[in-house]
Amino acid sequence: MPFINNDFINDLSNQVDIVDLINRRVPLKKAGKDYKACCPFHNEKTPSFTVVADKQYYHCFGCGENGNAIDFVMKFDHLNFIEAVEVVAGESGVSVVYDQNARPVDPKMKRYRDLMQEVSEFYQSQLKKSPAKKKVVTYAKNRGLTGEIAKRFDLGFAPPGWSGLFDHFKHNLEVVKDLEEMGLLVAKKEKKGEYYDRFRDRLMFPIHNAKGNIIAFGGRVLSEEDKPKYLNSPETPIFHKSRELYGLHHARKHSRSIDYILVVEGYMDVVALHQSGITCTVATLGTATTPEHLQTLSRTTDTIIFCFDGDRAGRAAAWKALQIALPVIKSGLIVKFLFLPDGEDPDTLVKKESSKAFEARIEKSHPLSKFLFDHIKAEVDFDTIEGKTLFLEKVSILIQQVEYDTYQQQLIEGVAQEVGQSVEQVKRVLSQQKLPPLKPSTPAPIVGEEMPVPDFPDFPDFSLSKPIVVKNNNAKGLMSKMITLLLNYPSLSDGTVEVRIRDLKKMDKKFAVLLELTRSSQMIEQENNFQEELLKPFKNKTTTYNRLGQLCIMEPYLSEMQAKDEFLAALDVSEQQQKNTQNKASIATANTIEERKKLMESIQKGKLKKK
Ligand code: CTP
Ligand code: MN
Repeated sequence: MPFINNDFINDLSNQVDIVDLINRRVPLKKAGKDYKACCPFHNEKTPSFTVVADKQYYHCFGCGENGNAIDFVMKFDHLNFIEAVEVVAGESGVSVVYDQNARPVDPKMKRYRDLMQEVSEFYQSQLKKSPAKKKVVTYAKNRGLTGEIAKRFDLGFAPPGWSGLFDHFKHNLEVVKDLEEMGLLVAKKEKKGEYYDRFRDRLMFPIHNAKGNIIAFGGRVLSEEDKPKYLNSPETPIFHKSRELYGLHHARKHSRSIDYILVVEGYMDVVALHQSGITCTVATLGTATTPEHLQTLSRTTDTIIFCFDGDRAGRAAAWKALQIALPVIKSGLIVKFLFLPDGEDPDTLVKKESSKAFEARIEKSHPLSKFLFDHIKAEVDFDTIEGKTLFLEKVSILIQQVEYDTYQQQLIEGVAQEVGQSVEQVKRVLSQQKLPPLKPSTPAPIVGEEMPVPDFPDFPDFSLSKPIVVKNNNAKGLMSKMITLLLNYPSLSDGTVEVRIRDLKKMDKKFAVLLELTRSSQMIEQENNFQEELLKPFKNKTTTYNRLGQLCIMEPYLSEMQAKDEFLAALDVSEQQQKNTQNKASIATANTIEERKKLMESIQKGKLKKK
């Protein structure tokens, strides 16, 4: 986050006109030397909202809301402090002064953002100008999109053919390079200096960041035969999927108050809900929910409602979201779940029903605790003592992740009621759970993996900065860890990694699956269903396939960089172990004491290196 200079903030109110600023949002009427309007923060018929020009201050006699220009914009536009300062300054033609000590803002970033805006304008103009526009206009109409909503979301059209965008920008080499960096143009392998468009013949959804700058695009095909259905911009210096939420900017801009935020799965869901007047909604960008998403949302609202399909995939995605949410929940934050009927998504449902009916569903969404208990109950035979025992153990592992004490207490009480035991008894089970509590910065444990006794019980601990959940650094545990990381971050794999893992496999066939994954990871594009792609080679091996499927459900808690560190560390340790196994075998067969001593020393050295 940029640091804005303190003196600048203190002086800002002298440089802006609060009347002007508020009048742009709420039309004001002069009343004596002040200005009045009906309060935008509560419902009223007679105006009691007053703006005092000479004090640069507003006050509502009805609800008591008051403050200066920045306070108003924070509240009205649903922005955080820094964002509000930037908006107030921007609208008043004042340039923000950032702190000298802060990192200078990279001028490239602004250039990229400006360019994305230009690209969006190009795509929008194609809706009107392209000779192929009829197809996209018909498609949009068939999906019930109004012109107004298309405009609100800056929807556009990437024309068919290979070079619509390239031709438009090719006169400027620097721009072409930037477009390549943004993933919108792809360099042709065979012809140097030539490019083709990444998005072709698609309905384009610009992705805005919270401030409203366009930072990426998603594009939908117009006919069901075409594949993939959605194509998204790749990760770029201004676009990080795991952080951004589609529609957040629009939710803030078009909602009167944000009592909740509904998290849905698709672009079209957000757009369709807006069209029905349900504006407090966002979508993740073809990825699962991340802790960063939740942090962002919890800064905007007190109630996050995850909305999923009622089918198996929807429930699995919801369960993933629940696991991510547990450690993030803090005082005042409520997380709920809304399951839609099988086969429906918000887009289809809100069109079939009314927005009223959809709102009634939102109203009735389940609290997290209910989903937590129901889900685990369904996994066990709850009517038996054994089932209840299992329930208690499974639920305890999850409750341990809750860091907000009061909430944890409440959950414990809920569990006690469910199983018909005292709170003390439940707490005892909780404290007996061997697994360490999971923090957001650690990967989930590999559930169900029994940990055989390590080959080298005296082998040193990993010297990693992050705690590692796979406690036993045996080959199997390490391998599961690397597999889990790869399944969630396929970009970790490259040629070097592949060579190293091939060497490991030479020693131990256990590494075959990992090697296969290392290969397929290098080939896939990291789109929405990339995990399915990754698992494809294992389709015929049911046990492996199912096991890998389980590991996919593990949510990546790590940033890509942390994941890389962990992966390489695990690889290092595996290699070292391999060497030790070899050495041990040689010790057993060594002929002279001298030879043995040398081998022992070499093992010892390996250990020290890891410390
Ligand atoms: N998605 C993606 N890549 C795909 C498919 C989907 O990134 N190949 C993402 C998109 O963000 C999309 C969301 O996942 O909006 C949901 O996809 P899906 O459920 O397949 O489609 P819908 O949103 O129902 O799309 P539509 O209604 O347009 O068919
Ligand atoms: Mn849909």
